[in-house]
Amino acid sequence: MKLAPSLLASDLADLAGTLAVCARGGADLLHVDVMDGHFVPNLSFGIPVIQALRRRTEIPLDVHLMVSNPDRLMDDYLAAGSARVAVHWEAAVHLDRLLTHIRKGGAKAGVVLNPATPVELLEDVLPQAAFVLLMSVNPGFGGQAFLPRALDKARRLREMIQKGRLSVEIAMDGGIDRGNIAQVVAAGVDTCIVGSGIFAASDPVAMMSELRIRARSETV
Ligand code: DX5
Ligand code: ZN
Repeated sequence: MKLAPSLLASDLADLAGTLAVCARGGADLLHVDVMDGHFVPNLSFGIPVIQALRRRTEIPLDVHLMVSNPDRLMDDYLAAGSARVAVHWEAAVHLDRLLTHIRKGGAKAGVVLNPATPVELLEDVLPQAAFVLLMSVNPGFGGQAFLPRALDKARRLREMIQKGRLSVEIAMDGGIDRGNIAQVVAAGVDTCIVGSGIFAASDPVAMMSELRIRARSETV
């Protein structure tokens, strides 16, 4: 399992401190939520923050675009140093072209699905994606409760990937914590994105190792 702490839940007045915590906890990726106040009601970070993070950390940046018209600033997200860029199926009209654009720009291309969007809609675009990000909350806010139907979606997606003999990674985002991470991984998820589950803990570094241990536990 790869662990991707989500910056949104961290102390935003101390991003350097958060980067240090993520490095000490061995974060595989750093999840950066970009919100535009349009596709989702909230606002968060944009390109200047991605550039600033890139200058201060070696941890690959996993950029989750919760924006309308995700193609509009794509070259800037890529140039800012995103290692992975995920666009919402619900927001990308020309998804096939956009995924190719991301890949040609040197990043891993991902498709994100809202809780209400079935994985079966990905059948024809799956070979173009390096990863699929399943939302286990409705996007826009940290700290929401995990929606358990996401587990069934992960199992169905895993079957589609196996049937198509594809190598597509499955990520999940929203409401993951020490109580459910074992179930998430058992459902076939490769990358767990965790915000409050890490940063609301009294010791986020220790919580990151606890999450890894729990992810391996067979009692789910
Ligand atoms: C929600 C974001 C998530 C969020 C996860 O719109 O995409 O990445 O930060 O936070 P938690 O783990 O607190 O649900
Ligand atoms: Zn996210």
